[in-house]
Amino acid sequence: MPPAPRRPRPSRGERAPERPRSGPRADGPRSGPRATGPRGQRRALSMPSTPGPSGWGGDRQLGPALEDALLAAGRDDVPAESLTHPVHPYPARLHPATAARLVELVMHTAPQGAPLLDPFCGSGTVLVEARAAGYLALGVDLNPLAVRLARVKTWTAPVPRRKLARELGRRIAGEVMHAGREARRAGATAPPLRAPPGFDPNARQRRIGKWFSPHVRRELEAIAAAIDEVAADDAEVALVLTMALSGILYKVSHRRSDTDPSWVERKVARGAAARLFGDRVEMIVAGLDDLARVRAPMPRVVEADARALASLDLPPAVGVVTSPPYAGTYDYAEQHRLRFDFLGLRHRAFDEGELGPRRHFLANSAAATTRWRAALGDAVGALVGALEPGRLAALVVGDSLAGKACFADEDLRAVLDDRVEVLAWAWQERPKLGPERHAFGDRPKREHVVVLHRTR
Ligand SMILES: C[S@@+](CC[C@H](N)C(=O)[O-])C[C@H]1O[C@@H](n2cnc3c(N)ncnc32)[C@H](O)[C@@H]1O
Repeated sequence: MPPAPRRPRPSRGERAPERPRSGPRADGPRSGPRATGPRGQRRALSMPSTPGPSGWGGDRQLGPALEDALLAAGRDDVPAESLTHPVHPYPARLHPATAARLVELVMHTAPQGAPLLDPFCGSGTVLVEARAAGYLALGVDLNPLAVRLARVKTWTAPVPRRKLARELGRRIAGEVMHAGREARRAGATAPPLRAPPGFDPNARQRRIGKWFSPHVRRELEAIAAAIDEVAADDAEVALVLTMALSGILYKVSHRRSDTDPSWVERKVARGAAARLFGDRVEMIVAGLDDLARVRAPMPRVVEADARALASLDLPPAVGVVTSPPYAGTYDYAEQHRLRFDFLGLRHRAFDEGELGPRRHFLANSAAATTRWRAALGDAVGALVGALEPGRLAALVVGDSLAGKACFADEDLRAVLDDRVEVLAWAWQERPKLGPERHAFGDRPKREHVVVLHRTR
């Protein structure tokens, strides 16, 4: 029999953190993270706060708890701005309140020190919540940006290391602002551009050029060059600084948003990029300080294809909480291309291995559907293989328009093998937008959470 679910508890550590509703505390900068807008990032959560009809099925105890996990997103009782959640936008993030409940539901009977796995960890929401609840977590994602972001969001290194990251962030921001003022007085031309290893500088310049005003580009390149110097001695701290830079990159660019690649006029004051960068480092470190108040190991995060879990030499998972891509909905490789180019992140494996991206469905919908179902089957098979028999996996999946209406719970059930049974599920309706109304007809569009029990 699977373990009986019970009400989530806040923490396994000695002290549950007070969750701040925004990043840095009173000692942060005056125009701190609010200026860069956690509110905007909340819109990118996959779970909108709009109430919709909901329901559950299967196990009588677990089903209602799953419905509650979905509805928790609307209540926001584990705030989306707490801990390190708001430090970087990422499309289709899980709501932390949903993640927290699912982690507790699958892990509350876990043996001490045994890991939870999220094989599509994205920006690390599940890993942060597992870490906050005192569990060991393993994350996998094929997106090189996601993996770095998830590592940074759970980087609860000893206090002096976090302090160093904060100090270097302040120092770099101050120096770049100062250099910008000096350069303007001297009428200096643009600084030499960086050439990250493996990137042709001319091709990189062609791809990046139009997205930044010259003075913004000058500040960003100067920050990146200073981070390169830090990286020579301290790769971990440099990664924290890099993710702070990544977190503000689109804010100071002419790209409208992560999910909208259109060019917009955006006036960015001189010094603003450097100031936002400094604020973002503060925000990350403040979130890490809060996360570190619970004693637990740092998660391990691996850049790999979720279909190849068996080759990764991971310890067996005693629980899985994950949200695989929604068919035909996002295009992560496209959304992060400017970041990849600016930060010098190699992404060929991700371009080739991303599951169900929109670009596949736009190119050839029928072929993309076949490819999607095969890939989903491989990924679900791999995660079941990584789970210990007797344990639970909670998957959050969403109906989508992928050429035609795609019913995610049906796609998921179709690929299950005889090692698992569906124990319980819950759903909440989501609004149908534009062409979805026609494609879905009378049928509702839903977000689902499905719990699988590995029986053997
Ligand atoms: C719905 S998002 C997960 C979001 C995450 N739960 C969060 O809160 O940030 C799906 C993730 O699947 C990743 N992904 C797509 N194809 C993959 C593959 N073949 N292997 C591993 N990860 C993949 C994407 O990079 C994306 O981060």
